[in-house]
This record gives sequence, C-alpha cells and structure tokens, in this order.
Amino acid sequence: MLLPLLSTLLLWSLADAAVSPDAKAVCSTLIAKYPKNLVWDTIGPNAGDTITQAAAYNSALFDYWNAASADNRPACAFFPSNAEQVSFAVRTLNAYPSVKYALKSGGHNPNLGYSSVKQGVLIAFRPNSQYAIPAPDGKTVEVGAGCKWEDVYEVLEPLGRTAVGGRLGDVGVTGFMLGGGLSYLSAQYGFGCDNVVEFECVLANGTIVTASRDSHPDLFFALRGGGNQYAIVTKMILKTYEIGDHGSIWGGVRTYGADQHSKILSAIARFTANNTDPKAAIIPNFNYFAAVGVNLPGALVFFFYDGTKVPPGVFDDFNSILSLSDTTKVKKYTVLTQEVLGGDMKGMRFQIRENTFPNMPEKDMTAFLNDHYKKMLKGSSERALQDLLDFRLMSFAVQPMPRGIVKASRDTGGPNALSMEPEQGDRVWVEYDVAWLSPLCDQRCPKSFETLVQSVHDLHVENYSGIPPTNYKEGDVDFISYNPIFMNDAMHGQDVLRSYGNATYDRLKATHEAYDPEGFFAERQGGFKFSS
Ligand SMILES: Cc1cc2nc3c(=O)[nH]c(=O)nc-3n(C[C@H](O)[C@H](O)[C@H](O)COP(=O)(O)OP(=O)(O)OC[C@H]3O[C@@H](n4cnc5c(N)ncnc54)[C@H](O)[C@@H]3O)c2cc1C
Ligand SMILES: *[C@@H]1O[C@H](CO)[C@@H](O)[C@H](O)[C@H]1NC(C)=O
Ligand SMILES: *[C@@H]1O[C@H](CO)[C@@H](O)[C@H](O)[C@H]1NC(C)=O
Ligand SMILES: *[C@@H]1O[C@H](CO)[C@@H](O)[C@H](O)[C@H]1NC(C)=O
Ligand SMILES: *[C@@H]1O[C@H](CO)[C@@H](O)[C@H](O)[C@H]1NC(C)=O
Repeated sequence: MLLPLLSTLLLWSLADAAVSPDAKAVCSTLIAKYPKNLVWDTIGPNAGDTITQAAAYNSALFDYWNAASADNRPACAFFPSNAEQVSFAVRTLNAYPSVKYALKSGGHNPNLGYSSVKQGVLIAFRPNSQYAIPAPDGKTVEVGAGCKWEDVYEVLEPLGRTAVGGRLGDVGVTGFMLGGGLSYLSAQYGFGCDNVVEFECVLANGTIVTASRDSHPDLFFALRGGGNQYAIVTKMILKTYEIGDHGSIWGGVRTYGADQHSKILSAIARFTANNTDPKAAIIPNFNYFAAVGVNLPGALVFFFYDGTKVPPGVFDDFNSILSLSDTTKVKKYTVLTQEVLGGDMKGMRFQIRENTFPNMPEKDMTAFLNDHYKKMLKGSSERALQDLLDFRLMSFAVQPMPRGIVKASRDTGGPNALSMEPEQGDRVWVEYDVAWLSPLCDQRCPKSFETLVQSVHDLHVENYSGIPPTNYKEGDVDFISYNPIFMNDAMHGQDVLRSYGNATYDRLKATHEAYDPEGFFAERQGGFKFSS
C-alpha cells in the first residue's frame, strides 16, 4: 500500500518544527492536572512521557476525512471527559494567548485547520466524550461532543427510534450541528440543529452554561448553524423520532451510466418542486473519476423512504431510468447510513465547496443542470490531463432543498442561523468534491477546483439569473437564488455567515462580540469567520 508509506515519509519531514515554550507550558499544565487525558506528540521531545498512550494521539491525528489534516501535528492532544476539564483547558489557554488550538469531534470537516492544528493544542472529544444515552422514555438522547452519528443511531435502533442526523454514520455530531445539519429526515423534522433541545457548552472565559430556548437564547440561536465562533460544545440533548417500521426503512443506492445523466437531472428538478411526501429523500451524485488522464463519468443516487413500502408515484421518475446496479430494498436505517463508498476514501486529500441555486421550472432547470454537467465534465477532463500521475475524484451532489424542508425546520425549531423562509421557494444545494493523493497537489488541486466550481456558479448568474424558484412567493430573487451557502459543504473562504443575510449576520456578530470579546474563538482556531 502506498498510503502508509506516504504517511511515514510525511511523519519524518514534519517532526522538525520546534514546539514553542508556551505550547509546552499549556500541555504541561494540562497533564499535571489530568495525567490520564493528555498525550504528547508521539515523535516530539516529550513523547517518552506518554509513550503508553501513543495510540490515542495517533488515532486523533490520523482519523480525519481529509488525510492532509494529519500533516498538522499538535504539540499535544487533550482528551476531555467532561465540561469541567474543557473549562480548565480554556482557562489555561487564556493564560498563554500565543498558543493555537483546535476542536475535533468527528474530524470530517475537510477544510484544513478547522479541526487540526500544527504545534498547538488539539482538544479531541473522541474517545472520552463519546457517549450516547437515551432518556428513560426514549424521546431524547444525551450525546457527548465526541460522538459520530453511528454511535447515536446504534443506541436508538433497538428502540425503533433515531435522531435527525448525518446520512453517513461516520460524520461527527458536533460539527454537523454547528453547520445546521442536513438529514434524510429533514423534510419531516427540519435540520439536525432544529432538534437540539439544549447544548452544554464552555464559554471563552471558561464558564460552563446551558444554551437552550430559555437559557442564553442568543447563544442557542448562534450555535444552530452559525459555526464554532461562540462556545465549545461539550454535550447535547437531542429529540428522537420513531423510524420506519421498528427501525426498518426502504433505501439504497442505484448507479447509472453517464448516458443517463440528462434523465436524472430532469427527475431531480421535478422531485425538488413536486414531491409532496416528506418521508422521501434522495441524494444524487455525479462522478468524474480520473486516473492516468482518463475520465470515467457516472452517476449514483441514494434513495430513502421512512417506511418499508414506498407509495406509488414517489420515485416513479427515477424508477423509469435504467440503472447499472441497485441496492434499494427494506433494511435497517443504520445499514443505509453505512452504505457508501465513503469508507473506502480514507487516505485521500479532499476539498469541498458549495453552490446554492434556485430550483427553476423544469425546462430551465434541466437546461441549466445539463450546461452545468457539461462544464464540470469538460473542466475535470482538462484537469485530469494536466496531471497524469495523480488519481482524482471529482464529483458533485445536487441536494434538493425544497420549501418543505424549510417549513419543517421552522415548525420544529423556530428560526435558526440559516434564516431561510418557506415562501422563498425551492432551491438546490450543490456540493462539490475533489480528492487527490499526492501532497504535491495540495496547492494546485483546491485552487483549480475552486475556479471550476466558481465557473458553474457564474454560468447560472450569466445565463439563468432572475428566474424565480419553483413555489416562490416572496423574497429578493437575486439574493435567495444563491444563498444561504451551506456551511457543512462550504470551502474555507466562502462567506457563509454573510450568506445568511445581513440581518442575521449582524445578529450573529453581536452575539459573537458578547461571547468572544477577546477573540479566543475568532483568532486562535480555524472555522468560518466574520468577514467584516
Ligand atoms: C463523507 C461526508 C458526509 C457528510 N454528510 C453530511 C450530511 O449528510 N449532512 C450534513 O449536514 N453534513 C454532512 N457532511 C458535512 C459535515 O457535517 C461537516 O463536515 C461537519 O463539519 C463535520 O463535523 P465533525 O464533527 O465530523 O467535524 P470536525 O472536523 O471534528 O469539526 C468541524 C468543525 O466543528 C468545530 N467543532 C468540533 N467540535 C467542536 C466542539 N466540541 N465545540 C465547538 N466546535 C466544535 C471545529 O472547530 C470545526 O470547525 C458530510 C461530510 C463528509 C465528509
Ligand atoms: C410539477 O408538476 C406539474 C404538474 O404535473 C408540472 O407541470 C411541472 O412541470 C412540474 N414541475 C417541475 C419543476 O418539474
Ligand atoms: C452562457 O451561454 C452562452 C451561450 O450558450 C455561452 O457561450 C456562455 O459561455 C455561457 N456563460 C457561461 C458563464 O458559461
Ligand atoms: C449587506 O451588507 C453588505 C456590507 O455592508 C452590503 O455590501 C450588501 O449590499 C448588503 N446586502 C444586502 C442584500 O442588503
Ligand atoms: C464569562 O462570559 C460571559 C459571556 O461573555 C459573561 O456573561 C460572564 O459574566 C463571564 N464570566 C466571568 C466570570 O467573567
């Protein structure tokens, strides 16, 4: 295998940079107070002190979705078990303002430096804050900040219940919630964040508080979609729901040849505008695999229905499209959330980016999506030829964002930071992915990908702007057509907080100023920032 070799080489090349005395002081203070919760860099000068726990550091370092994150070796990793320990870490960090830190939950955010830090302190919530405990009545579940969705689904499945979470079990709960969180269940119960009853969190001065509708409501609003700039989440209480028939649902993945793309694109436009069954969800993906300069496009669609019998009509448009393979059938919900090529992708370097578009009437939308498809295909082929040696995957997912999801979000959780209104009509949230293997492409791959994704955004602006979305009632068409940018799929540098609209931006900024007066969150870690 090439990957372990590559990592070993990287390891030696990265061991050189010296740890600052201040970073060392923070780590030393933490280990003196909590000897079992801190592990020094396993190839750093203090490695010997915590040699028996090297495995914990190494899994915190290497278990990222984006393999490039593992180049950011922290001086030490701190593994808190509870809010008191996080509070102590925050107060210690406050005494050494030059030390950078990062918060890591599931480690799935591909943006470099969002949950990783070179030479600083990594606060890693797995494994010590990885617990999911259903309430005695099963209607809520208490979730530690280190859970992945699979941990939550697993304890709820025997109860025939689930939470509104990631479509892939491997995603972390905390990062997902802070970006809003799109689920297969969103048309019924809104975004993941709409189903948070309360967050336990640690403020920038170390104070432990509960954020809920009644306690720190401004903070509660900001944490539901506004990102990591207000507080450190240590645990959450989430609503749960019955799922399918005692946990069994209908779903799976169908794959298609590239020749079917036009039919799939039309079916997406119709589903987004006309599906009236909130139990149904799809994630259509279009892939361009490039190896040694050859591009092999194809499509795959994830199907989900919250029940074991899909009523006629719901997926008819898709059922009439010839597929190459098909895993759709009745299965446990947890099985569906494990069913992706996702697991096979570890070891790759990633960048993602998001474009929001209006779901236009069928003829316009199909024409636009076809233009978009062609431009992506041409762009990824050209890029594949430029770099014959690097394996790449480029893909995009057209995620329906119908008004029904926005209405369910309002009905379940009230306004959240995304600040969407059902009257604004139907949209799509297109998520773009690029993956590469060689660190040599760390600059060029994301840059060239960004240019391509921006070009399909511009294609819409130039050739399709001003066409109101389906089911549009009110709102500034120019603004709602391209906003909000979905934080969970966004690339660093995309102005996510501004994309929530100026009123929300100002509200979040005021909350940020109240909770982070010294810039503890804004200046010492990564994340989506206030741009002005
Ligand atoms: C394969 C894949 C599938 C995905 N599927 C979905 C999906 O179905 N729906 C969806 O909405 N999104 C999805 N995402 C996006 C995902 O929700 C985001 O990448 C999210 O940021 C991941 O959260 P995490 O905890 O795993 O990430 P991390 O990388 O650990 O953290 C992400 C961010 O959260 C912050 N953070 C982490 N822990 C804390 C804490 N305790 N307190 C405060 N801030 C903290 C970090 O600073 C960082 O900025 C998917 C991503 C991938 C790669
Ligand atoms: C929704 O259904 C109506 C009636 O069947 C049809 O005319 C319209 O084209 C559909 N909308 C879209 C966007 O496909
Ligand atoms: C808009 O459409 C025209 C005509 O098809 C095309 O030449 C042009 O490149 C398109 N604009 C963009 C930004 O792709
Ligand atoms: C939002 O505010 C920014 C910066 O003040 C301004 O440039 C922009 O025009 C405003 N947008 C809207 C839609 O009002
Ligand atoms: C900690 O910060 C919060 C929010 O800014 C503030 O309300 C509280 O008074 C602060 N506590 C202390 C002890 O300074």
